[in-house]
Amino acid sequence: MNTPAKKIIITGGAGFIGSHVVRRFVTNYPDYQIINLDKLTYAGNLANLKDIEHLPNYRFVKGDIVDIAFINSLFEQEKPDAVIHLAAESHVDRSITNPLEFVMTNVVGTVNLLNAAKNLWKGNYENKRFYHVSTDEVYGTLGETDMFREDTAYDPHSPYSASKAGSDHFVRAYHDTYGLNTVISNCSNNYGSYHFPEKLIPLAIHNITQNKPVPVYGKGENVRDWLWVEDHARAIDVIFHKAAAGTTYNIGGHNEWKNIDLIHLLCNILDRKLGREQGESAKLITYVTDRAGHDLRYAIDATKLKNELGWEPSITFEEGLEKTVEWYLANQKWLDDVTSGHYQDYYKEQYADR
Ligand code: NAD
Ligand code: TYD
Repeated sequence: MNTPAKKIIITGGAGFIGSHVVRRFVTNYPDYQIINLDKLTYAGNLANLKDIEHLPNYRFVKGDIVDIAFINSLFEQEKPDAVIHLAAESHVDRSITNPLEFVMTNVVGTVNLLNAAKNLWKGNYENKRFYHVSTDEVYGTLGETDMFREDTAYDPHSPYSASKAGSDHFVRAYHDTYGLNTVISNCSNNYGSYHFPEKLIPLAIHNITQNKPVPVYGKGENVRDWLWVEDHARAIDVIFHKAAAGTTYNIGGHNEWKNIDLIHLLCNILDRKLGREQGESAKLITYVTDRAGHDLRYAIDATKLKNELGWEPSITFEEGLEKTVEWYLANQKWLDDVTSGHYQDYYKEQYADR
């Protein structure tokens, strides 16, 4: 885009990655107005944004992207120049028990936003942008070798990845059919602060600190490519400002870990930080029934992003994991509130349910 977008709706800004994206845009671009549009599902937590919520260029709007009438009137009222779309149901295990919710939010919700943007911008897409944040899971699973590139064929296996693949296809269709100025990025597994403790890394940190079993699915041999969430937010910033319309970028850390090796690394870090004997935390590792349809290996080739837009991860996994563990140990109250469900009481009165 040539000139900066003045008003941006960021969806899902109360979630894990969204809160880092909101923080980055609100603090780095004081001239932009940032509207955080979030339904506050179990995964949305406004405590994630406590440090920036007072800033004059930030606003929160509670709402459901599935609600067409609400989305249309919000777009007509606010007239955003751009959308950065992160709102989604994001957990594979939950998608296995409730696929329809994933279709509604991830597919129908995305199409509602695309329509509202198309109707508002009316074919004049100069300095307008619809940025769709997606996942590498749309590409399916890899064997021992190879990596996902931007031209890898889509082959999703879980209801989550199928719903994200569906939403990616709709975003491309709105570019190809209506000329909407879209960009898509597909990122590998993120880790860092404010990560909901249903996902592997925060769940393991929480359980180890509480001396509870750490569940490892199957044999723990599945491989994920981990990226520090603040590096993902920086990649989104770079792509949002520099990518050409209709393009796609993969984002990843070149940082593959077998789940079981990652858990052992976390156990070692926590033994050291909690003053436990080496090997004590690893006794909590408990092998459990494997996830249905469990993808074996994800690995991202992010060469296009590096060569074209100059983005690379800023820190090593060892540094990032150390920082992450320190953050969870220093923010025990955040973790306790999230695991007890208490965080959902905070804003109940302030933002009555729609
Ligand atoms: P998250 O589950 O932590 O947060 C999702 C947010 O979306 C929450 O604040 C939730 O309240 C909101 N939301 C859910 N349904 C909504 C609806 N119907 N209307 C409005 N808001 C709604 O998710 P995350 O891990 O931060 O992921 C953010 C995005 O990044 C998702 O699109 C996900 O597919 C993608 N992604 C995630 C990862 C990862 O490792 N977590 C990796 C690559 C891509
Ligand atoms: P997760 O954090 O749910 O992310 P995704 O499924 O989107 O990659 O899981 C990461 C990996 O860890 C995945 O291979 C499943 C595995 N896993 C466990 O072994 N135990 C757990 O308790 C969880 C939540 C995940």
